[in-house]
Amino acid sequence: MQNNTFSTIFVGQNLIKLSSVDSTNNFLKSLVSKSEPLPEGTVIMAENQFAGRGQVESTWQAEPGKNLTFSLLLRPAFLDLSAQFKLNMAISVAIQQAVIPLTGVGLSIKWPNDIYFQNKKIGGILIENIVAGSRIKACIIGIGINVNQQKFDEKLQNRAGSIYQILHNDVNLLSLLTQICSRIEVAYLKLRAGNYNNLRQQYLDCLYLNGVKANYRQNGEIIEGKITGVGDNGILSLETNAGIKTYNFKEIEFI
Ligand code: BTN
Repeated sequence: MQNNTFSTIFVGQNLIKLSSVDSTNNFLKSLVSKSEPLPEGTVIMAENQFAGRGQVESTWQAEPGKNLTFSLLLRPAFLDLSAQFKLNMAISVAIQQAVIPLTGVGLSIKWPNDIYFQNKKIGGILIENIVAGSRIKACIIGIGINVNQQKFDEKLQNRAGSIYQILHNDVNLLSLLTQICSRIEVAYLKLRAGNYNNLRQQYLDCLYLNGVKANYRQNGEIIEGKITGVGDNGILSLETNAGIKTYNFKEIEFI
Protein backbone atom coordinates (compact mmCIF):
# COMPACT_ATOMS: atom_id res chain seq x y z
CA MET A 1 0.00 0.00 0.00
CA GLN A 2 1.51 3.35 -0.97
CA ASN A 3 0.87 6.27 1.31
CA ASN A 4 1.06 10.03 0.99
CA THR A 5 0.94 11.03 4.65
CA PHE A 6 4.70 11.03 5.05
CA SER A 7 6.85 13.95 4.02
CA THR A 8 9.87 11.67 3.76
CA ILE A 9 11.75 10.52 0.69
CA PHE A 10 11.60 6.83 1.50
CA VAL A 11 11.13 5.96 5.18
CA GLY A 12 7.47 5.05 5.62
CA GLN A 13 6.55 5.67 1.99
CA ASN A 14 5.58 2.02 1.66
CA LEU A 15 3.42 1.57 4.75
CA ILE A 16 1.73 -1.77 5.33
CA LYS A 17 -0.83 -1.73 8.14
CA LEU A 18 -1.83 -5.04 9.68
CA SER A 19 -4.70 -5.45 12.07
CA SER A 20 -3.08 -8.38 13.86
CA VAL A 21 0.23 -10.23 13.64
CA ASP A 22 2.51 -12.23 15.95
CA SER A 23 5.44 -9.84 15.52
CA THR A 24 6.04 -7.15 12.90
CA ASN A 25 9.75 -8.10 12.96
CA ASN A 26 8.89 -11.73 12.13
CA PHE A 27 6.48 -10.62 9.40
CA LEU A 28 9.01 -8.30 7.74
CA LYS A 29 11.85 -10.81 8.11
CA SER A 30 9.82 -13.48 6.40
CA LEU A 31 8.97 -11.14 3.49
CA VAL A 32 12.65 -10.25 3.12
CA SER A 33 13.77 -13.87 3.26
CA LYS A 34 11.26 -14.78 0.52
CA SER A 35 12.98 -12.05 -1.55
CA GLU A 36 9.79 -10.03 -1.86
CA PRO A 37 10.75 -6.86 -3.75
CA LEU A 38 10.33 -4.44 -0.88
CA PRO A 39 11.66 -0.90 -1.15
CA GLU A 40 14.06 0.35 1.50
CA GLY A 41 12.05 2.30 4.05
CA THR A 42 9.09 -0.11 4.05
CA VAL A 43 7.22 0.02 7.37
CA ILE A 44 5.04 -2.78 8.71
CA MET A 45 2.81 -1.56 11.49
CA ALA A 46 0.39 -3.61 13.56
CA GLU A 47 -2.62 -2.59 15.56
CA ASN A 48 -2.35 -5.78 17.58
CA GLN A 49 0.96 -7.56 18.00
CA PHE A 50 0.16 -10.68 19.99
CA ALA A 51 3.66 -12.22 20.33
CA GLY A 52 5.91 -9.17 20.22
CA ARG A 53 9.58 -9.84 20.82
CA GLY A 54 12.01 -7.79 22.89
CA GLN A 55 15.76 -7.89 23.35
CA VAL A 56 17.47 -11.05 24.62
CA GLU A 57 14.54 -13.39 24.06
CA SER A 58 12.16 -11.27 26.13
CA THR A 59 8.60 -10.46 25.12
CA TRP A 60 7.16 -7.08 24.22
CA GLN A 61 3.64 -6.50 25.46
CA ALA A 62 1.46 -3.75 24.05
CA GLU A 63 -2.26 -3.21 24.48
CA PRO A 64 -3.93 -3.51 21.04
CA GLY A 65 -4.77 -0.23 19.31
CA LYS A 66 -3.05 1.93 21.92
CA ASN A 67 0.61 1.84 21.00
CA LEU A 68 3.11 1.97 18.17
CA THR A 69 4.47 -1.43 17.21
CA PHE A 70 6.20 -1.38 13.86
CA SER A 71 9.21 -2.59 11.90
CA LEU A 72 11.23 -0.73 9.33
CA LEU A 73 13.34 -2.16 6.54
CA LEU A 74 16.71 -0.52 5.89
CA ARG A 75 19.52 -1.72 3.65
CA PRO A 76 22.65 -0.15 5.15
CA ALA A 77 25.11 -1.83 2.76
CA PHE A 78 27.47 1.09 3.46
CA LEU A 79 27.90 -0.08 7.09
CA ASP A 80 30.37 -2.72 8.07
CA LEU A 81 28.98 -5.33 10.45
CA SER A 82 31.42 -4.14 13.12
CA ALA A 83 29.94 -0.63 12.86
CA GLN A 84 26.34 -1.62 13.34
CA PHE A 85 26.06 0.11 16.69
CA LYS A 86 26.15 3.38 14.76
CA LEU A 87 22.76 2.49 13.33
CA ASN A 88 21.50 1.79 16.84
CA MET A 89 22.63 5.26 17.83
CA ALA A 90 20.98 6.87 14.81
CA ILE A 91 17.64 5.15 15.44
CA SER A 92 17.53 5.87 19.16
CA VAL A 93 18.48 9.52 18.67
CA ALA A 94 15.77 9.85 16.00
CA ILE A 95 13.11 8.42 18.32
CA GLN A 96 14.21 10.62 21.21
CA GLN A 97 14.00 13.68 18.94
CA ALA A 98 10.55 12.73 17.67
CA VAL A 99 9.08 12.09 21.11
CA ILE A 100 10.64 14.94 23.13
CA PRO A 101 8.35 17.65 21.68
CA LEU A 102 5.49 15.69 23.34
CA THR A 103 7.05 14.84 26.70
CA GLY A 104 9.51 17.67 27.29
CA VAL A 105 12.66 17.17 29.38
CA GLY A 106 13.12 13.85 31.10
CA LEU A 107 13.24 11.82 27.92
CA SER A 108 16.51 9.96 27.46
CA ILE A 109 18.18 7.00 25.84
CA LYS A 110 19.19 4.32 28.28
CA TRP A 111 22.23 2.46 27.02
CA PRO A 112 22.21 0.79 24.64
CA ASN A 113 18.89 1.77 23.10
CA ASP A 114 15.91 1.95 25.46
CA ILE A 115 13.76 5.05 25.43
CA TYR A 116 13.22 6.28 28.96
CA PHE A 117 11.11 8.97 30.56
CA GLN A 118 12.57 9.67 33.97
CA ASN A 119 12.99 6.18 35.43
CA LYS A 120 10.53 4.30 33.25
CA LYS A 121 10.92 2.62 29.91
CA ILE A 122 8.50 3.96 27.32
CA GLY A 123 10.06 2.48 24.21
CA GLY A 124 12.37 -0.21 22.93
CA ILE A 125 14.21 -1.11 19.76
CA LEU A 126 15.01 -4.56 18.40
CA ILE A 127 17.38 -4.54 15.44
CA GLU A 128 17.84 -7.78 13.50
CA ASN A 129 20.35 -8.03 10.68
CA ILE A 130 20.39 -10.16 7.58
CA VAL A 131 24.08 -10.48 6.84
CA ALA A 132 26.03 -11.24 3.64
CA GLY A 133 29.77 -11.68 4.33
CA SER A 134 30.86 -8.81 6.58
CA ARG A 135 28.15 -6.48 5.29
CA ILE A 136 24.62 -5.89 6.46
CA LYS A 137 22.33 -6.83 3.58
CA ALA A 138 19.08 -5.89 5.26
CA CYS A 139 18.18 -4.60 8.63
CA ILE A 140 14.85 -5.09 10.36
CA ILE A 141 14.36 -2.31 12.88
CA GLY A 142 11.57 -3.15 15.29
CA ILE A 143 10.27 -0.27 17.34
CA GLY A 144 7.76 -0.35 20.17
CA ILE A 145 6.60 2.88 21.82
CA ASN A 146 4.08 2.90 24.65
CA VAL A 147 1.81 5.71 23.59
CA ASN A 148 -1.80 5.69 24.79
CA GLN A 149 -1.69 2.71 27.13
CA GLN A 150 -2.89 3.80 30.56
CA LYS A 151 -2.03 0.76 32.68
CA PHE A 152 0.57 -1.98 32.67
CA ASP A 153 0.68 -5.45 34.20
CA GLU A 154 1.49 -5.42 37.86
CA LYS A 155 4.86 -7.01 37.10
CA LEU A 156 5.78 -4.20 34.71
CA GLN A 157 4.18 -1.14 36.21
CA ASN A 158 7.22 0.03 38.16
CA ARG A 159 9.45 -0.15 35.11
CA ALA A 160 7.20 0.61 32.14
CA GLY A 161 5.50 3.88 31.32
CA SER A 162 3.72 5.54 28.42
CA ILE A 163 3.30 8.94 26.84
CA TYR A 164 -0.30 8.94 28.09
CA GLN A 165 0.90 8.64 31.68
CA ILE A 166 2.99 11.78 31.15
CA LEU A 167 0.41 13.88 29.27
CA HIS A 168 -2.89 12.45 30.52
CA ASN A 169 -3.99 12.81 26.92
CA ASP A 170 -4.07 10.60 23.88
CA VAL A 171 -1.63 11.13 21.04
CA ASN A 172 -2.43 10.41 17.40
CA LEU A 173 -0.49 7.26 16.53
CA LEU A 174 -0.10 7.97 12.83
CA SER A 175 1.24 11.47 13.36
CA LEU A 176 3.78 10.21 15.88
CA LEU A 177 4.77 7.49 13.42
CA THR A 178 5.33 10.11 10.69
CA GLN A 179 7.51 12.17 13.04
CA ILE A 180 9.59 9.13 13.97
CA CYS A 181 9.98 8.10 10.31
CA SER A 182 11.05 11.55 9.29
CA ARG A 183 13.65 11.79 12.11
CA ILE A 184 14.94 8.33 11.26
CA GLU A 185 15.37 9.32 7.64
CA VAL A 186 17.39 12.42 8.59
CA ALA A 187 19.63 10.45 10.99
CA TYR A 188 20.09 7.60 8.53
CA LEU A 189 21.02 9.90 5.66
CA LYS A 190 23.50 11.62 7.98
CA LEU A 191 25.05 8.24 8.78
CA ARG A 192 25.13 7.30 5.11
CA ALA A 193 26.87 10.58 4.30
CA GLY A 194 29.55 9.74 6.89
CA ASN A 195 28.45 12.49 9.26
CA TYR A 196 28.71 10.24 12.29
CA ASN A 197 30.41 12.47 14.88
CA ASN A 198 27.36 14.64 15.18
CA LEU A 199 25.08 11.63 15.73
CA ARG A 200 27.41 10.24 18.34
CA GLN A 201 27.36 13.56 20.20
CA GLN A 202 23.56 13.69 20.03
CA TYR A 203 23.41 10.16 21.46
CA LEU A 204 25.75 11.05 24.34
CA ASP A 205 23.87 14.28 25.02
CA CYS A 206 20.67 12.43 25.81
CA LEU A 207 22.17 9.33 27.40
CA TYR A 208 20.49 8.31 30.68
CA LEU A 209 22.77 8.85 33.71
CA ASN A 210 25.65 10.05 31.56
CA GLY A 211 28.28 11.59 33.84
CA VAL A 212 26.19 10.89 36.95
CA LYS A 213 27.23 8.58 39.79
CA ALA A 214 24.89 5.61 40.00
CA ASN A 215 24.80 1.98 41.10
CA TYR A 216 25.10 -0.92 38.70
CA ARG A 217 25.00 -4.69 39.13
CA GLN A 218 27.70 -6.85 37.62
CA ASN A 219 27.73 -10.60 38.25
CA GLY A 220 25.53 -10.11 41.31
CA GLU A 221 27.84 -7.46 42.76
CA ILE A 222 26.85 -3.79 43.17
CA ILE A 223 29.34 -1.28 41.85
CA GLU A 224 29.23 2.49 41.85
CA GLY A 225 30.23 4.23 38.67
CA LYS A 226 29.80 7.17 36.36
CA ILE A 227 29.27 6.73 32.60
CA THR A 228 32.13 8.36 30.73
CA GLY A 229 31.35 7.27 27.19
CA VAL A 230 30.07 4.71 24.70
CA GLY A 231 32.35 3.39 21.98
CA ASP A 232 31.42 3.08 18.31
CA ASN A 233 31.06 -0.64 18.96
CA GLY A 234 28.54 0.05 21.73
CA ILE A 235 30.89 -0.69 24.62
CA LEU A 236 29.99 1.31 27.76
CA SER A 237 32.76 2.96 29.81
CA LEU A 238 32.26 3.51 33.53
CA GLU A 239 34.53 5.39 35.88
CA THR A 240 34.62 3.31 39.06
CA ASN A 241 36.70 3.26 42.24
CA ALA A 242 38.92 0.75 40.50
CA GLY A 243 39.43 2.99 37.45
CA ILE A 244 37.73 3.00 34.03
CA LYS A 245 35.94 -0.27 33.26
CA THR A 246 34.30 -1.25 29.99
CA TYR A 247 31.21 -3.36 29.50
CA ASN A 248 29.58 -5.11 26.61
CA PHE A 249 25.79 -5.50 26.28
CA LYS A 250 24.18 -7.34 29.15
CA GLU A 251 27.42 -7.51 31.14
CA ILE A 252 26.07 -4.85 33.45
CA GLU A 253 22.66 -3.92 34.75
CA PHE A 254 21.32 -0.54 35.83
CA ILE A 255 19.73 -0.62 39.28
C1 BTN B 1 13.17 -4.17 23.81
O1 BTN B 1 13.14 -5.23 24.43
O2 BTN B 1 13.45 -3.12 24.38
C2 BTN B 1 12.86 -4.15 22.34
C3 BTN B 1 11.40 -4.08 22.07
C4 BTN B 1 11.06 -4.05 20.61
C5 BTN B 1 9.59 -4.18 20.37
C6 BTN B 1 9.21 -3.97 18.94
S1 BTN B 1 7.47 -3.84 18.72
C7 BTN B 1 7.65 -3.95 17.00
C8 BTN B 1 8.74 -4.96 16.72
N1 BTN B 1 8.20 -6.30 16.63
C9 BTN B 1 8.62 -7.07 17.63
O3 BTN B 1 8.28 -8.27 17.81
N2 BTN B 1 9.42 -6.39 18.44
C10 BTN B 1 9.64 -5.04 17.96
